[in-house]
Order: sequence, then structure tokens, then C-alpha cells
Amino acid sequence: MDEFILSRRDALLAGMAAAGAPALEKLSAFTGLGDISLTQQGVRKTMEPKLVYVPTEEDIKKALKTASKGISEDTHKAHLGLWQGYANKTNEIRKALAEMEMDPAKGNQIYSQIRALKVNYAFAYGGYKNHNVYFDTIGGEGGPATGDIATLINEAYGSFDKWVADWKTSGMGARGWVYLGYDHDEERVFSFIGDAQDTYPAWNSTLVLAMDVYEHAYFLDFKTARAKYIEAYMNCIDWNAVNARLKKATGK
Ligand SMILES: [Fe+2]
Repeated sequence: MDEFILSRRDALLAGMAAAGAPALEKLSAFTGLGDISLTQQGVRKTMEPKLVYVPTEEDIKKALKTASKGISEDTHKAHLGLWQGYANKTNEIRKALAEMEMDPAKGNQIYSQIRALKVNYAFAYGGYKNHNVYFDTIGGEGGPATGDIATLINEAYGSFDKWVADWKTSGMGARGWVYLGYDHDEERVFSFIGDAQDTYPAWNSTLVLAMDVYEHAYFLDFKTARAKYIEAYMNCIDWNAVNARLKKATGK
């Protein structure tokens, strides 16, 4: 039998359920809890999951403007399909979690439904967020950083050129991503390597710049010459967008 820890609201719902369906309907409308069903074990609520926005061609318009710098329209359009895939899978997993019966006895670290959903959720939602930042922060002028992010880069790396050297080297050493994170604990930035959509950044950092170095980001244009892609990428970073993300992160 399922185990339920009843909150005050659950207890109220159970009481209303015992009073009959009309009362349940009223409560459902009043609380906005959505579908409420009765089982032999008790009251089970199914809440509609919050879904993420699925990007469209509109969201790569800025990136397309700088296609002449080397990362082509074909690459960006193909890449959009992958970005949409992360959004759609995030939503699919959120729906599956909302409908799943949570039973600790069925959780298993080797294989279980909760493990399959949550491990892949980190990959799907991580991939979604990484690409949100990637496409938001390209399509710009490139060149030296400006504004507050320039100050933070100088504080952490000594100079913009030293940061560039670190960023490019990290890009060659990564299997998937390089992330520029603002660490709220140290109030500094750091360039993390990410081998997959969900690896290696530390907690309490906000992602302000993300460079995709998976081959799908450059193979059409540069074959396996990743260094050439990174060079092209550096020339279209949108530092205004990075500063906007930083400002949102710090509230300053
Ligand atoms: Fe990608």
C-alpha cells in the first residue's frame, strides 16, 4: 500500500472527498489544484506541470546576423532543432513526473523509473538552459569584454587576454561546453569545463556565457577544426547580453 504523509491540505481534501464529488469539484475549482482522483490508498492529486518555452526560428535571428563570421545559417538552423529537442524532452519528463506514482519502495539506484526520469531530466533541462545562454550571448560584436563582466574577468584572470587564453584552452579540453559562471559565494567568475549538458559546474553559480563545443556546433562549417570554430565564436560574443545576465544574477 502506498504511504502518504498527509499535510493539512491533504487532510482537508480527504475530508471533502468523503463528503462527495460535488464538494470535491468545488474545492478543485477553488484551489486550482486541477484533477483530483480517489484511490483505494487515499487522495491523489495530479497537478499540471509547469512547462518550458520551446524556442523557434525567432530565437536564432540574432545569431544568424553574424553568420558571415563563420558559424553558418545552416549550422544555427540545425542547432535550433537540437535546442528544441531539449525543451520538448524537458516538458515530456515534467509531465511524466507529474503523473508518476511516487513510491520509495520502487526507487532503485541501478534502474528505476524515478532514476531514468531524473537523471535524464538533468541532461534535458541542463541542455535547454545551456542553449538558452548560448543563443542569447552570440550574435554580437565579439572583441574585448565590456562593462561589469570585463571588470570581473580582469579580477579573476588578470587581463582579458589571459581569460581568452583560458577560455580557448578550456574549449579545446572540453567534450561539450565551456561555462562562464558567476560564483555568488566568492563574487567572482570562473570558466568551467562541461563534458555534457549536466556536468561539472559548482552550485551557487549563475551561467552568464556558454560556449557549445559539441561537434554539432561546428562540424558543418569547420569539420573537425574546433580551434577555428572557437575563433569564429569569440568574434560574435554579445557582451551586452552577458552583462544583462550578470546584472540579473547580481541585482546590481
Ligand atoms: Fe548544442
